Amino acid sequence: MSETNKTDDAVIPQQASPSSDREVLLKVEGLEKHFPIKKGILQRQVGAVKAVDGIDFEVRKGETLGVVGESGCGKSTMGRVITRLQDPTGGKVTFEGQDITHLSTAKMRPLRRDIQMIFQDPYGSLNPRHTIGSIVSAPFRLQGVEPEGGVKKEVQRLLELVGLSPEHYNRYPHEFSGGQRQRIGIARALALKPKLVVADEPVSALDVSIQAQVVNLMDDLQEELGLTYVIIAHDLSVVRHVSDRVAVMYLGKIVELADSTKLYESPMHPYTKALMSAVPVPDPKRRGQKSERILLRGDVPSPIAPPSGCRFHTRCWKATEICRTTEPPLLELRPGQRVACHHPENFADQAPQDTVLLTAAKEASELVGEAVLEESAEPAKPAAEATEAEPEPAAEPEVEAAEAEASAEPEPDSDAPAEDPESESDAPAEEPEAAAESPAEPSADSTVEAQKSQESTDK
Ligand SMILES: Nc1ncnc2c1ncn2[C@@H]1O[C@H](COP(=O)(O)OP(=O)(O)OP(=O)(O)O)[C@@H](O)[C@H]1O
Ligand code: SF4
Ligand SMILES: [Mg+2]
Repeated sequence: MSETNKTDDAVIPQQASPSSDREVLLKVEGLEKHFPIKKGILQRQVGAVKAVDGIDFEVRKGETLGVVGESGCGKSTMGRVITRLQDPTGGKVTFEGQDITHLSTAKMRPLRRDIQMIFQDPYGSLNPRHTIGSIVSAPFRLQGVEPEGGVKKEVQRLLELVGLSPEHYNRYPHEFSGGQRQRIGIARALALKPKLVVADEPVSALDVSIQAQVVNLMDDLQEELGLTYVIIAHDLSVVRHVSDRVAVMYLGKIVELADSTKLYESPMHPYTKALMSAVPVPDPKRRGQKSERILLRGDVPSPIAPPSGCRFHTRCWKATEICRTTEPPLLELRPGQRVACHHPENFADQAPQDTVLLTAAKEASELVGEAVLEESAEPAKPAAEATEAEPEPAAEPEVEAAEAEASAEPEPDSDAPAEDPESESDAPAEEPEAAAESPAEPSADSTVEAQKSQESTDK
């Protein structure tokens, strides 16, 4: 998304990757966040919602890491934990070489200047009783910082920076549109010149036209201020153009982490492929052509009792026995592309001995086969997939050039307690003790249907 900012201290040695000239700002190792489920008068713990269940990644200075995944897969929880608005239940978070995993509120206070969060809902995240001036200046008050020239002048400068007028200082949130409110939220997040900004679905509540404006604004600010971003979205199209790398999450785990061009040109995890097929590609060459969809059927299984082995096996059309029994590790199968899959796309099979598809996969492949057969009457499509030795475990559906919906019904999100944005830059959110009592049961219906659909790409 932007040029590297190298003004700060070097910290953690680089991992090999195309963007490996950048220093690591944030490192996350084996991160877990389990929300306890308590029942009865004694409030005994009877289980846990494994919202984030062992994830590893790093964020380099000046880069934008996009994080995508279906609703309920743990993106927001991950965002809150890495900013320490919530405490992790396991793993380690290192910021600029300092282990911040268990820092107390008091010890986190100075770091709050460097780590900021932008929230999804521009309507709910601004206190309606406070003026814009008061909202944007809150971080200065909370941190006891007196900017040069005074708070008011600095707030007005920030308002201008995000494309608002200094005259807006005395107005109230209800006088602004959604896009303008999100700009106010961005101004507040930038007030203390943070090094890392975690933006949780910063544009998903906005109209599409306004989304582009806000994303472009964030992009410009990154260049201007040397920011590092983690941008959370559940739509790949939002992070597509702004991310240097993208992490794909499924049920509390990262299943693929790759440089964004690689991810888009040649996704390796079947789930990534399904998500990708939901992103319409405005390609004039494909105008009028039929294209296929990968429809993920069934709900995302419950994070209380995630499926054994690969968590995606209940919905994956390539699943074999090993997928059911053995969790695939996140391996760097290509430089800059880490994938957790026994039978990855566009790459040599990691478990070639295991070829018998699970029942769900069989059904899915039949459906896909039919779809492809029907498709054969259509003009030939480009063979988009790479050709590295690909001993697929079974009839792998040709599902490229796809437009799809991840039709899984989202897990009802018992989301975090309402956060008070006024205090966010200062105090971590309360650790939720009483967790969701009854998130949905693991889905029994877990077949994958590949469908083709008429895609008019006149966009
Ligand atoms: N405070 C909480 N107490 C109990 N369970 C929670 C809490 N916060 C989140 N969860 C659960 O953790 C899981 C992940 O939630 P999270 O909000 O992180 O998902 P998400 O990927 O951000 O979803 P969305 O795209 O809908 O925002 C969900 O099953 C949710 O119900
Ligand atoms: S092929 Fe197996 S390991 Fe890979 S995503 Fe499908 S179920 Fe998981
Ligand atoms: Mg969320």
